[in-house]
Amino acid sequence: MAEDKRNVLVTGGAGYIGSHTVLELLNANYEVIVIDNLSNAFKDEKSGKPECLSRVEKLTNKTVTFIDCDLIDKNSLKNLFTKYKFSCVIHFAALKAVGESCSIPLEYYKVNVGGTLNLLEVMKEYNVKQLIYSSSATVYGVPEKLPLTEDMKTGNCTNPYGKTKFVVEEILKDLCASDKAWSVISLRYFNPVGAHPSGEIGEDPNGIPNNLMPYIAQVSVGKRDFLSVYGNDYDTPDGTGVRDYIHIMDLASGHLKALIYQETKNPLGFHAVNLGSGKGYSVLEVISAFEKASGKKIPHKIVERRPGDIASSYADASLAKQLFNWVTEKDIDDMCADTWKWQQKNPQGFKN
Ligand SMILES: NC(=O)c1ccc[n+]([C@@H]2O[C@H](COP(=O)([O-])OP(=O)(O)OC[C@H]3O[C@@H](n4cnc5c(N)ncnc54)[C@H](O)[C@@H]3O)[C@@H](O)[C@H]2O)c1
Repeated sequence: MAEDKRNVLVTGGAGYIGSHTVLELLNANYEVIVIDNLSNAFKDEKSGKPECLSRVEKLTNKTVTFIDCDLIDKNSLKNLFTKYKFSCVIHFAALKAVGESCSIPLEYYKVNVGGTLNLLEVMKEYNVKQLIYSSSATVYGVPEKLPLTEDMKTGNCTNPYGKTKFVVEEILKDLCASDKAWSVISLRYFNPVGAHPSGEIGEDPNGIPNNLMPYIAQVSVGKRDFLSVYGNDYDTPDGTGVRDYIHIMDLASGHLKALIYQETKNPLGFHAVNLGSGKGYSVLEVISAFEKASGKKIPHKIVERRPGDIASSYADASLAKQLFNWVTEKDIDDMCADTWKWQQKNPQGFKN
């Protein structure tokens, strides 16, 4: 068995947030083992690796071990834990499209909840009890007040995807209560956007993007005709929805800081921590920032509100600062400039 205290298992590490976090981990000299079933990542047949990870290797001049493995396949997970001794698991792998989760909820519960249960059972069996979990601001449901703080009520989620994130947090709390040796940090992300400043890795959505920034990016290169803005009669300064956007590199550094905090302070039990910028931007503000960054006009139309959408959501991010000295360093102009760079360099995503 390979013995190395700094072996980190990253599930879903070939995805958008995972790949940027892997880059940060490699730069910080961790040994990184990625598992992914490639359901939402592109593999280059020649190298046998997900293209994003080959690019991460080039950017860092380090290597990452990749294993094609599905969380649903518990035996493969056991084989993995037999082969490597992990100090910690960062668990990104999940299905994440809100709309899709309403049409295929069982698949979402199977992967996001069932897959996580498999992972936790195997971690327990192999006595690996440090976990960093990808949660989401969606667990807060409709905000009671803003900014959102970690002690606010969770649940009351409006779609199956959000419910899977909430249910897994509840499972993790119960697990930590039952066995005091576990240390779990559940990072509640707000809206990750942007790309590595090199433009070499970024978000590569399959089909029609679900989120604002990748949609704007595709409009900017003519891949889509216009952007639909869902409602301009919300109770916000310009009437359009306000969200807390966070640059993907800030989000990635949040994982690294959480990991270092876990290693150095050994915070036992379950800890939920927001990762957001603490500042909200409206849809119209994002459009105008993107137009400034790209020099392109973004045609858009105001259409009906979408059911389930809320007016505003933004984080109180002070706990992350207090616990692991993390603050965001990049602003909306960086988010737009880096998205634009990635989109221009890779108009077809990783399949170029
Ligand atoms: N992107 C966001 O806006 C956002 C916001 C909040 C939380 N999150 C959470 O962050 C995590 C990562 O999100 P992302 O945006 O990088 O998504 P992503 O789809 O880019 O990455 C997820 C990765 O997991 C893999 N995967 C899916 N099912 C798997 C399985 N059964 N076994 C192994 N691998 C599997 C996919 O192939 C993909 O590479 C997810 O848990 C997501 O719910 C994302």
